[in-house]
Amino acid sequence: MPFATIRHVIPRKLFLAPIPLLLAAAASGPQLIRPGEVWPDDRGQHIQAHGGGILKFGDTWYWFGEDRSQGLDPARRYVACYSSTDLAHWTFRNQVLKQADPGDLGPRFVLERPKVFYNPRTRKFVMYMHIDDARYQLARVGVAVSDTVDGDYRFLSSFRPLDRESRDIGQFVDDDGTPYLIFEDRPAKGFHIAALSADYLTVERDVALINAPLEGGAVLHYQGLYYALGSALTGWNPNPNKYATAAKLEGPWSEFRDIAPPETRTYGSQSTMLLKVTGSRTTTVVFMGDIWRPRTQWDSRYLWMPVEIGNGALRLPAPRPWTLDVRTGESQPQ
Ligand code: DGJ
Repeated sequence: MPFATIRHVIPRKLFLAPIPLLLAAAASGPQLIRPGEVWPDDRGQHIQAHGGGILKFGDTWYWFGEDRSQGLDPARRYVACYSSTDLAHWTFRNQVLKQADPGDLGPRFVLERPKVFYNPRTRKFVMYMHIDDARYQLARVGVAVSDTVDGDYRFLSSFRPLDRESRDIGQFVDDDGTPYLIFEDRPAKGFHIAALSADYLTVERDVALINAPLEGGAVLHYQGLYYALGSALTGWNPNPNKYATAAKLEGPWSEFRDIAPPETRTYGSQSTMLLKVTGSRTTTVVFMGDIWRPRTQWDSRYLWMPVEIGNGALRLPAPRPWTLDVRTGESQPQ
């Protein structure tokens, strides 16, 4: 870290303090979240949770995503799980899925964008993921289950939800606990928000088909309005991500607008989720995006930033290091 940056993040009083005190302060103070940089877990390894999703269970957040570490068995696809109580320090928990071709997908099959829901009735953790062949022609979701949040998930099946093509998926749990799967439907030139069955093991009811050809779909409920967010269909290359709003999930949905100056192409990232963190004083909404490095996927980065949101507007500010206090809900750019 350059000297100027160290000075910037450590208050002047502490800058002159002895080393042990500095270390203690670093351990107890809020940790900077640094968009675009290597994000080490508790083992010092860059977090492998690409195209991920977050589940809050009790006081702990669990981050699931594609594990694209080097040296993994090329015949399998991996999902990793991390936990955190402050959304900044992440502990590696388990490679919760190490999936071989379930039968009919071929050696270069695709498993992307895993999302985990907790079903309080069955007490099962249910993982959805995009399952495909190497040419992205199957367009299915896969479902896996576990009795514990970070256990070894058991792959159940893959299918086209509501008999529609499904590529990128997203997850949304409404304030009343209702779970929805978001999935991109290429022939329909749009994306669905669809309700899950009571056991969460299948997709039961289409709630909305939003007529915009967007992937990396995310939905959020904030101050009485629904916000839907997604990226254009440009493969691994970033593009200007856009959002729309509606009073009801069913719509009508507004026109889509840029979340950031379009020439920044979402600051080089692609949406995967919008995370609401409500504390004792306020609510921070975090844009979670992936900065893909398709040729060195293990080194793909994350762009997490608090958004400016309210009254139907959503803006992603230029990325810079920031802190989050999950007790109060306050975020602070540095
Ligand atoms: C964009 C998607 O959002 C990613 O998850 C991945 O499927 C790439 N396309 C593949 O090109």
